[in-house]
Amino acid sequence: MSLIVNKSDLDRLGYLSIAPEPGINLVEAIQEMKREKNAVILGHYYQTAEIQDISDFVGDSLALAQQAAKTKADIIVFAGVHFMAETAKILSPDKKVLLPDLKAGCSLAESAPADQFAAFKKNYPNHLVVSYVNTSAAIKAQTDIVCTSTNAKHIIDSIPANQDIIFAPDKNLGNYLNSITGRNMVLWDGACHVHEQFSLEKILKLQQENPDALTIAHPECEKPVLMVADHIGSTASLLKFTIQSDKQKFIVATESGIIHQMQKANPDKLFIPAPPNDSTCACNDCMYMKLNTLQKLYTCMKYELPEVVLDEAIRIKAEKPILKMLEISERLGL
Ligand code: 13P
Ligand code: SF4
Repeated sequence: MSLIVNKSDLDRLGYLSIAPEPGINLVEAIQEMKREKNAVILGHYYQTAEIQDISDFVGDSLALAQQAAKTKADIIVFAGVHFMAETAKILSPDKKVLLPDLKAGCSLAESAPADQFAAFKKNYPNHLVVSYVNTSAAIKAQTDIVCTSTNAKHIIDSIPANQDIIFAPDKNLGNYLNSITGRNMVLWDGACHVHEQFSLEKILKLQQENPDALTIAHPECEKPVLMVADHIGSTASLLKFTIQSDKQKFIVATESGIIHQMQKANPDKLFIPAPPNDSTCACNDCMYMKLNTLQKLYTCMKYELPEVVLDEAIRIKAEKPILKMLEISERLGL
């Protein structure tokens, strides 16, 4: 069933602003709709705790793309941001892919407009393009191999050493990858507004106050923050590190949503969110990820809107580099 209701809300707000029925239990109603509609909810680690808890699968961007490629569900409800839902649609074009709020974008993906990237690429005709999954389908369509933070090093290592590479769009991740692979990739000048705002001074102060804590950081953070981290990795890698470490305290330099899974997996350990430069904002919350709410999730599943749709010509071009990434990841057991 698909009802077109308040279509103008979708254009204006990005979601349907229809109040749920009074007194309804949203969690139970969502669970019921999952069964009725054969829908699967894929939730990213940066979602709110309540959305993570109602998701069928919670993971990082690689794991969610892998799930999207193999799910048997008829409807994929993506509790994440637009590029993630778009990746699911690219991989599963026959399925209905829903995103609770179409305005859940990504400052990093937006830092690479497709036309500007095409012009940039022309300057490097012999370079291969490796793009981080945090890009639009139009950028993926101009890419040779997609990567995520979990598999980026492996993807780059799989390319012959004498092959020149453009890496887009995250310059911090790109710089980090250049340092660990010994490459000199040409970098697009993009960044994530959440990971760029961690305060080195405040992290150093926290480290002094908590000498027993380990600092863990996502590679989208700036180099000075990465230099004082004990472990650098994707959200999945950071979570795994907290489970495997015998330490009890961690300073976490990534979006704060991941702390929910860290705390669930390690109830006796302490997680301290790395502070942003501006102490008056909750800047270590991704404002795009947090646009999704339980209420929007309910409405989106009930009315099967907003739906992610794609131009088929772009989808076909964007699929190839994602499939290459999935093949390499599978071969390497990632
Ligand atoms: P992961 O690949 O670790 O899930 O990161 C995605 C993301 O958006 C980081 O900001
Ligand atoms: Fe994009 Fe940054 Fe939000 Fe991740 S945390 S979705 S990179 S804006």
